Amino acid sequence: MQTRRDWLKQSALVSGFAAAPAIVRGQNLNSRLQLASIGSDGKGLSDIKAMVTHDRQQYVAFCDVDLNRTAAVRQISPDTPIYQDFREMLAEQGDQIDAVTVSTPDHMHAYCAISAMQLGKHVYCQKPLTHTVEEARLVAEVARKTGVITRMGNQIHSHAFYRTAVELIQSGRIGKVTQVHAWVAATGHGKSGHISRPPEMPVPKSLDWDKWLGVAPVRPFSTGPFGKCYHPFGWRDWQEFGNGAVGDFGCHILDPIYTALSLTGPSNSFFAEHTGMNDEVWPAQTTYRFTVPGTEFTADDQITITWNDGGLLPSTKGSHLPDREGLPRSGAMFIGEKGTLVLPHVEAPSLYFPETGFSNDYEMASERDHYHGWIDACLAGEQPSANFAYGAMLTETILLANIAVRFPRETLEWDAAGGRFTSHEEANRWLARDYREGWDLRGLL
Ligand SMILES: NC(=O)c1ccc[n+]([C@@H]2O[C@H](COP(=O)([O-])OP(=O)(O)OC[C@H]3O[C@@H](n4cnc5c(N)ncnc54)[C@H](O)[C@@H]3O)[C@@H](O)[C@H]2O)c1
Repeated sequence: MQTRRDWLKQSALVSGFAAAPAIVRGQNLNSRLQLASIGSDGKGLSDIKAMVTHDRQQYVAFCDVDLNRTAAVRQISPDTPIYQDFREMLAEQGDQIDAVTVSTPDHMHAYCAISAMQLGKHVYCQKPLTHTVEEARLVAEVARKTGVITRMGNQIHSHAFYRTAVELIQSGRIGKVTQVHAWVAATGHGKSGHISRPPEMPVPKSLDWDKWLGVAPVRPFSTGPFGKCYHPFGWRDWQEFGNGAVGDFGCHILDPIYTALSLTGPSNSFFAEHTGMNDEVWPAQTTYRFTVPGTEFTADDQITITWNDGGLLPSTKGSHLPDREGLPRSGAMFIGEKGTLVLPHVEAPSLYFPETGFSNDYEMASERDHYHGWIDACLAGEQPSANFAYGAMLTETILLANIAVRFPRETLEWDAAGGRFTSHEEANRWLARDYREGWDLRGLL
């Protein structure tokens, strides 16, 4: 009888990908899924803390380029080896590792995830899944070919509030949906506080700056005068490393929209306007509009999704909200033929109807644990929701919107099957990036 391991080996050989050595250990009922982390502080630490509450896992290796940011994981598991270089970790501990959690800055997600998947490791990778559209397609393709179990780290996908909104929309409570808005208070360059490169500063002894840069071109280290220029946290604002506000929040706030409306493809067209930008950081405030093919849950055969960041709220015109009803600082609004649903970011949904006004008369959906759900899926050998096929589609959408930002107030037509903009040839150059010598992601394939 053919086992899953046989199948994985065969498909790996057929596709030219490396064979999968350690995929089945966690599926033995008496054993634990053996995990390794890439990025072990910040969100990485919160991912590790959430994973270790599952009773059938064990971290067998941790990695962080900054050894000063490993104190907390040393406390969680004092005997677990710690690496500064994930490639060394995968090479030395590969036989021990079944699955990897990737919680680095965005520019390294694809390189780390593909490296791990090609060794047959299951992967949980933070949102947004990748930094370029080409990477999103490659990550999805490698996940498909290797058959490993994957999940994107948009944990609110599993939250009771978001799951309730999905159930309400799909049950037809507000009728077919005619318009959708999403918005977040965060700005495109408010995290680092910089709009141009600050002067060079000495690299802290604990940090391997070259490995932090990874695929990106070399630039001098700096904390800048505010302390968080690039590492940690401030990298989000820089086009070379992060994806601005939509990169930070798009895979959270757009997720219930894509899930509730069962949107499966990227958009047909993208439009962006903003308050101004340079070649280094993302704009302070951006508005995007994507037009997406409609589904059984939309009123028309296409639907427009509007995104605002930087504190701009959408208009409630055309909705069923009473005149002076305010909107939350961040969230989503579904306008339907019979009513409107407002979903604040990580709060319970509110319903509004033409005659009766506000209502919270609904049953709350059950809460799921996004992290345990992935471990359970690895143990069962079944793909969970928010896997890389879905994550790559959602990520591609936000990355395409971030290309539209470079051509403000123009509508970019997108050919999803061909993977190209058909209306602007010059926009296609932003679909992929150059990789630094020694870090060519395409060379991993
Ligand atoms: N799901 C969520 O709610 C959520 C929340 C915050 C951040 N995130 C995501 O998590 C990721 C990390 O964000 P953050 O805020 O923790 O960033 P951060 O800069 O605060 O932390 C990143 C950590 O990874 C380490 N690191 C960087 N490059 C590395 C590499 N090549 N190998 C190993 N370690 C490396 C850093 O030293 C640091 O400890 C991002 O993708 C971000 O979008 C998700």
